[in-house]
Amino acid sequence: MCGIVGAIAERNISPILLEGLKRLEYRGYDSAGLALVDSAGQLQRLRRVGKVAELEQAQRETVPTGRLGIAHTRWATHGVPCERNAHPHFSGDVAVAHNGIIENHEALRRQLKELGYEFLSDTDTEVIVHLLHHKLESCSDLSDALKATVKELHGSYGLAVICSRFPDRLLAARCGSPLVIGLGLGENFLASDQLALRQVTDRFVYLEEGDIAEIKRDSVRIWDISGQLVQRENVQYHEGAEAADKGEYRHFMLKEIHEQPKVVQRTLEGRLGDGQVMVEAFGPQAAELFAKVKNIQIVACGTSFHAGMIARYWLEELAGIPCQVEVASEFRYRKVMVQPDSLFVTISQSGETADTLAALRNARNMGYLASLAICNVAISSLVRESDLTLLTLAGPEIGVASTKAFTTQLVALMLLTLALGQVRGSLAVDKERQLVEELRRLPARLGEALAVNAAIEQLAEYFADKNNTLFLGRGAQYPVAMEGALKLKEISYIHAEAYPAGELKHGPLALVDSDMPVVTVAPSNELVEKLKSNLQEVRARGGELIVFADGRAGIENGEGTRLVNMPHIIDALAPILYTIPLQLLSYHVAVFKGTDVDQPRNLAKSVTVE
Ligand code: G6P
Repeated sequence: MCGIVGAIAERNISPILLEGLKRLEYRGYDSAGLALVDSAGQLQRLRRVGKVAELEQAQRETVPTGRLGIAHTRWATHGVPCERNAHPHFSGDVAVAHNGIIENHEALRRQLKELGYEFLSDTDTEVIVHLLHHKLESCSDLSDALKATVKELHGSYGLAVICSRFPDRLLAARCGSPLVIGLGLGENFLASDQLALRQVTDRFVYLEEGDIAEIKRDSVRIWDISGQLVQRENVQYHEGAEAADKGEYRHFMLKEIHEQPKVVQRTLEGRLGDGQVMVEAFGPQAAELFAKVKNIQIVACGTSFHAGMIARYWLEELAGIPCQVEVASEFRYRKVMVQPDSLFVTISQSGETADTLAALRNARNMGYLASLAICNVAISSLVRESDLTLLTLAGPEIGVASTKAFTTQLVALMLLTLALGQVRGSLAVDKERQLVEELRRLPARLGEALAVNAAIEQLAEYFADKNNTLFLGRGAQYPVAMEGALKLKEISYIHAEAYPAGELKHGPLALVDSDMPVVTVAPSNELVEKLKSNLQEVRARGGELIVFADGRAGIENGEGTRLVNMPHIIDALAPILYTIPLQLLSYHVAVFKGTDVDQPRNLAKSVTVE
């Protein structure tokens, strides 16, 4: 949520800041700004409402240059998106860019006003820059002033700081919002995500919670939460090249949808043995631990929560383990009755989602056996703070609407189901062998499912003037329908709701008419006949159906029913396969409507604030 870039070099760094912001734009894009110390030693600033392209255009006209600077792309929390609220914020000769939320900003604002500071924005961030400016009156060094400042902040922050009195250094502080230092030769960088710096370096130092860093052209000093100087590991990072551009695709989302066979393959690699899942993939202590597991609690947000909902069907049906799934923002504030011998599982693409992280931290003292993170980012807070990890290997996901992260999460959760079933002896050896073989075939099946693209593109026009849609599914296809509805509303702004098809007659049927498309996922399985009855209920009321089904389901194209034929797949893996056409449907509807597919309004990729 929001993106930060900083640089100190001997060359003009404004193009580096702008390029970094463009790469981070998916994290927030309602306004952007940069601040530089110019050759005369003065702070210069440029801010614009809207996307980084607006800032870039303004930069072309005014050409601010400098060798030290910070930049920010914003997702508004406190104060509407406008130039006055865009970062960096100034106080005299100090400039700050901030990710996160300062919870005690009102009290600090009052104190600082009494000290004579004038507030020009509605943001919580402005208290930080004034407080830091005030601390500099009694501290001779910028890092000392920053240390004194953060002691008074409650909440979360990733901070990038410059001060024209100290043109040889860039300061950073991390608490609840990730920051990474990029190491160059005679130049160094800072960002909230290493992706922003890929064009300048592949060597990184990840700050830990409570760290403060002083970054000079040729040195980096880091103090930990207790104020001790520390050495943090220097990491070479090779991933991310594939995320740099859209390649032949018009949008990152379409590229990421088409990457699914490849990344599912990668997520399976090295984790399947001869007829069974390799339990060690979850860590050396996994086998011993899994043998003790009698219950599972899954916690996640958004699309990751839907992955958890699907996994519940698998864990109960295939591994025979009771499973509960809850959104993290509810779990973290609820009195939870923990079942004995429960494994606490978090699912997150980013590993930095504030609610999921908070839920994990609360869970530590609640009596769970252990925590397991299913996550796409190896160096994330969630991974660092969990006992066990299974990485999804989807590669960086740039489109705000999650696609390949979701399908790889499902693959990881199927591996978890099989591993638990195997270790606990609750899954028959033959059944595991069959599922492992089907998993090996899954990348090819996903490739076949992508072939429905052209048929779905033709459906898009039909949705363009619709305001509401129902998504139906039964069994594990119900959460697939939830994910389909989420995708459609996220990027095409059409209201979409998902229902278990059996609930139709308990309310939503009242809404059905020819203006309300009813999208249904209907693989041939033991529930398909029941589902067909539900579809009759829709047709009898003049409702229009869009049905995704394989030939064996016995559903036909005809009046009021638009059928998209899907390849047949074993029922257990159908949720993964049937996700693909729903992703494509939302994509093509959004393209037809002309909305911003990769950066839908009001949303951000990584929600690091509550
Ligand atoms: C945001 C994103 C969603 C994502 C959710 C959870 O809302 O826009 O795509 O599913 O956060 O994110 P996580 O990184 O924890 O999976």
